[in-house]
Amino acid sequence: MSAAAARAMARADELAGCTERPGEITRRYGTPALIAARDLLEAWMLEAGMRTRVDRAGNLIGTLGAGDRPGILIGSHFDTVVDAGRYDGTLGILLGIGCGEELAGAEPAHDLTVVAFCDEEGARFPTDYFGSRAFLGRPLPDVAMTDAEGATLASAIELAGNGAAEPGSGLPASAVAYLEAHIEQGPVLEAAGHPLGIVTSITGGAKLMVALRGTAGHAGTVPMGLRRDAFSAAAEIALAAEALARDDGEAVATVGQVAVSPGAANVIPGRAAISIDLRHQDDDRRAGLLARVRQMIAEVADRRGVDAAVEVIHDERSVRCDPALGERMRAAARAIGLDPPSLPSGAGHDAVILSDHVPVAMLFVRCAGGISHNPAESVTTADVAAALAVLTAVVGGE
Ligand code: HGY
Ligand code: MN
Ligand code: MN
Repeated sequence: MSAAAARAMARADELAGCTERPGEITRRYGTPALIAARDLLEAWMLEAGMRTRVDRAGNLIGTLGAGDRPGILIGSHFDTVVDAGRYDGTLGILLGIGCGEELAGAEPAHDLTVVAFCDEEGARFPTDYFGSRAFLGRPLPDVAMTDAEGATLASAIELAGNGAAEPGSGLPASAVAYLEAHIEQGPVLEAAGHPLGIVTSITGGAKLMVALRGTAGHAGTVPMGLRRDAFSAAAEIALAAEALARDDGEAVATVGQVAVSPGAANVIPGRAAISIDLRHQDDDRRAGLLARVRQMIAEVADRRGVDAAVEVIHDERSVRCDPALGERMRAAARAIGLDPPSLPSGAGHDAVILSDHVPVAMLFVRCAGGISHNPAESVTTADVAAALAVLTAVVGGE
């Protein structure tokens, strides 16, 4: 397994070179960098003896087996956030390909489908899980939506997709399970000294885009009491959202995107826009938090005399992973001398979308310092080898 793991690590390094911006890893949906990464993944799938195809959205699907055995899917995403690490998403795909290489020539109990999802992060368009939703034949979102440069989703699909007009589900009729191996993106496994973890549930989340409209004005002449400063309203909303999450005790709230216009130092901002990412394991408590945030936004806007428009980009429920599948992975881990703990995922994953159609399980791989969505993301070859052994045992065995 260690040679296969070393190969996966080397491939992760090679994929890191597929980026929109030299010197960092940024690979968003519908960009040439994404296509270059997909070409590498497809070459490795073909080397592993898989049949490959690209679907309407641009997902890459590799299949091993004649379709006469129960099917297990292994997948993750190969798009990234901006200035990303090299293992978020890609490691799960490389482990799926590695599993195919390990099982080539054997008589595994399952057919294997490896799926590389083309857009999980939603880093370019205000979409969520675009790749996995399209893979399952779900209706596409509004393809007229645009990115920050004004390019449409339709144009990105034209570059990335296979040109098919109609959605069709890529889920094999024989599918019995979807497995996703992913870096933990948190500090729990490292703190506990475990290379692997079994995911119990995936936290649901809501993402808002809040647009504020005030009045642009001269920074030197408008008295403070007469201003309709859109950015000051946005800043107060951001801090109030943070406070509401802290008050809950278990929720998290993040403002990751900020836009201010016209953007001159001596002009009172007439417009501002912020994203608000809210997450909570408990769906009801997340709904309550979302309601309080929306009420707070209205109060701040009213008091400051600005207009606020709130768009809920997505609002996904929390998803439980299949306990029986998790126990099969745990048994495979114990067979190689490990005893992986169970833990929830604070991050979202494509398994959320697949869970509507097939039982899902996730295997977490320890990552240094729990760091992710950051170039410092790192894993060890030994831990990757352990994850590969677990996946190979589950796909290969009964
Ligand atoms: O936001 C998330 O949890 C994932 O990285 N898309
Ligand atoms: Mn991510
Ligand atoms: Mn991810």
